[in-house]
Amino acid sequence: MIDYKDPKYTSTERANALLSLMTNEEKVGQMMPLAYKFMTREEALEWAKKGLGSYLHVLGDNADELQRTAINETRLGIPIIFGIDCIHGHALNEYATVFPTQLTMAQSFDREAMRKCGRVSATEVRCDSLHWTFSPVFCIGRDTRWGRINETFGEDPYLIGELGAAIVDGYQNNFVDNSCIMACAKHYIAYGESVGGRDAYDSMVSERMIRETFLPPFQKAAKAGCKTYMTGYQSVDGVPMNSNRRLLREVLKEEVGVDGFVITDWANVRSLIENQKVCDNFEDASRVSIDAGNDMIMQTEEFYDATLKLIENGQVDMKHIDDSVFRILKAKFDMGLFEHPFDKPDRSKICCDEHVAVDLEVTRESMTLLKNDGVLPINTKKIRKIAVIGPNADDLEAQYGDWSCGAANGHRKPATSMLKGIKKRAKKVGIEVIYKKGCDIEKPGKRGFDAAIKAAKESDLIIAVMGDYIELNGEYKSRATLDLPGEQTALLMELKKTKKPIVLVMVNGKPLCINWEAENMNAILETFNSGMVGGTAAAEILFGDVNPSGKLPISFPRTAGQVPVHYNYLPGWHGGKYKDIEEGPLYPFGFGLSYTTFEYSDLSVSKTEFTEADGEIIVTAKIKNTGKVKGTEIAQMYIHDVVGTVMRPVLELKGFERVDLDAGEEKTVSFTLPIEELKVVEQNLEKALEKGDFEIMVGGSSVDLPLMTTIKAV
Ligand code: BGC
Repeated sequence: MIDYKDPKYTSTERANALLSLMTNEEKVGQMMPLAYKFMTREEALEWAKKGLGSYLHVLGDNADELQRTAINETRLGIPIIFGIDCIHGHALNEYATVFPTQLTMAQSFDREAMRKCGRVSATEVRCDSLHWTFSPVFCIGRDTRWGRINETFGEDPYLIGELGAAIVDGYQNNFVDNSCIMACAKHYIAYGESVGGRDAYDSMVSERMIRETFLPPFQKAAKAGCKTYMTGYQSVDGVPMNSNRRLLREVLKEEVGVDGFVITDWANVRSLIENQKVCDNFEDASRVSIDAGNDMIMQTEEFYDATLKLIENGQVDMKHIDDSVFRILKAKFDMGLFEHPFDKPDRSKICCDEHVAVDLEVTRESMTLLKNDGVLPINTKKIRKIAVIGPNADDLEAQYGDWSCGAANGHRKPATSMLKGIKKRAKKVGIEVIYKKGCDIEKPGKRGFDAAIKAAKESDLIIAVMGDYIELNGEYKSRATLDLPGEQTALLMELKKTKKPIVLVMVNGKPLCINWEAENMNAILETFNSGMVGGTAAAEILFGDVNPSGKLPISFPRTAGQVPVHYNYLPGWHGGKYKDIEEGPLYPFGFGLSYTTFEYSDLSVSKTEFTEADGEIIVTAKIKNTGKVKGTEIAQMYIHDVVGTVMRPVLELKGFERVDLDAGEEKTVSFTLPIEELKVVEQNLEKALEKGDFEIMVGGSSVDLPLMTTIKAV
C-alpha cells in the first residue's frame, strides 16, 4: 500500500493512493475554489474544515491560517492552493513590482524578458503564501473594441504562443523551489472573438478556425507544461464554453493533452443558469460543467450540495469526478505542497532592486516609436524648457492599467509617472519642465486649456501625455468608439496652433484611432500601460539614452468601423477595403521606429524542397545597422502558403529575434521554422502539410519585408 505522505513515491502514485481514501464530500471539496473576500473569516475556516481545495484572493496570515486548518483539522490533511490574478505583477500587494500589461510587454517581442518577469512575479506572489496565478492570457486580441485587449499579447497566434509559453516557464520553473507558482492559460477558447468586441458574448467561430488560429497558443502552453487552464465566460457557436464538451474535454484535455487541470471562470456554473440559460438549476449546471471537462469550479458554493446529490443519484460519471480530483491532487504533489505547505521566499524579495531592474529592462523594450520627424531624441542643447501637458502625465492609475488593484496608491519608491520621469531626466541637463494637465478624460471640459496653451507658448517643446483611463479597459468595459476620449484631440489642436513641436506620449490600454495625431504630431511614442517604471523608461527614450526598439503586437485601426484589421487576414475579392477610409491599418502589426536604420540582405534557407520528415528549416539573413547610433532591431520572419485546400492568410509571422547592433555593425540572424508551423487544418479538421510553395519573407514589420524566397513542400 502506497503512503500518499511519503515523497519517495511519484506524484501520480501518491495522488492515486490519496484519491482511493477519499469520501465523496472530500472529493467535491477539492474541486472548489472560493473567494475569501466574499465570506467572513469564520465561514472561510468552516470551508477549510470541509476540505476546500482552493481559495482565491487571500494572502499572508489569513491564507496561512486556512492552510493550518486544512492540514491539522481535516482527516487527510490535504493542503490548499491559493490562487490570485497576478496579471502583470502581484496586484494584491501594493508594494510589489508592477510590470507593464501583457499588451505593453508584447511590444518587446522578447521571450527571455517574459521568462524573467514570470520569475519575479512568481517569487513575489509566493512571499504572500500564494501558489497559483490566473495568467497568462492566451486570447487573441483582434477586435480592439473588446475591453480586455490590454490583457492579451496582441493579435498574432505565433507571438502569443511564444511569449505566453515563456512566461509560463518563468512562473513555474519546474517547481524547483519555493519561488515557483502554477500558471493558468486563459481564457479557453476564442474569448476575444466575442461578437462585436462585446465581453462574454458569443464567439462565432468554427471548429476549423479554432484549430487553425485559436488553439496553437494553448498547444504551446501545454508544451511548456502549463499546469492549469481557464474556461472562458463566452459561448462558441452558441454553446457556452463551460458546457462545451467537444472543445474542452475532447479537444483540450484528450487531444492536446493537459498535464494539470481546468478551472472555470468566475461563477461560470451560475452563468449557465442565469445568463446563458442552458440549465435551470444547479444540479444540471454542475452536471454539464463536470461532463464538459471542468475540474475546478470557481466561485459557486451551490456546486457542493448539487454535486453530492448528483453522485448520490448516480447522475454524474464518477470517473470524471475522480479524474478531476486526481489532477488537482497531482498538481499539489508536483508543487511540493504536501512537503512544504508554508515554504516561501524571504519577504525582502518584494520589489527588491533586482526585481525593479528586470521591470525597467522590459519596460524600456516595451515602447514603440510610431512617428518621428527628427524632434526625438530631444536636442538638449536647443531645448531649454519643456511643457508637459495632458491628463495622463501624472496619473499612475492610468499608467499601471487594469489589474493593478490600487497599486498606484501604494507607497513605492520606484513608482515613476511620465511627468516625474521627464522632470528627473530634464533636470540632469538643466532643462526646465512646467506641467499643466490641460483637460480631464473623465470629466470633459476646456477649463484647463488656457493654462496649457500659455505653458506651451513659453516652452521650446511640448510633450503631450494622453490616452485613456482605467474605466475604458477591462472586463465588461468594451468600447464602441476608439477615439482619444474627451477633449484631448481638441486640446492638441489648440497646442498645434502655438507652432511649438509636439511629442505625443500615449498612455492607454489599447490601440486608439489617432488619425489626426498621426498627421499633426511631430513624434508619437506608444507606451500603453507601462507600469511602475514607465516614466523612467519613457524619459530615457525621449532623451535618447535608450534607443526605442518596441514593435506593435497589434494593428491600429483608422476607425472603430474598420475592426478587426489584423495583418494575417484571409484574402478575398474586395481585399477588405472600405469606400470611405484609406485601406489598411493606421499603424501595422510589427511596426516600430528606431533612432537608427537597419538594412536586410542575404536571405538563405537550409532547404528549398522539404518534406515533413525534415522537421525544421533554418532561415538566415543579414542585418546591418546603417545609422549612427547603436540599436536593437526586432527581425521578423513571415510565411505565405501560396495555395491551400482552404484559404491561407496573406501573411503569417513564424519567427522573430531581437538583434543588438552597434552603429555600422552587421550580424546574421537565424530563425528556426518547424515544419509543424506550415501545416494547414484541412476541411476534415485534420492538420496536414500540403504540397506546394511557401514564400518566406524577412524584414522589420508586416509591411516592410525586403527579403523573399520560395520553398516547396514535396
Ligand atoms: C476573470 C478572470 C479572472 C477571474 C478571477 C474573472 O472575472 O474573467 O480572468 O482570473 O475573474 O479573478
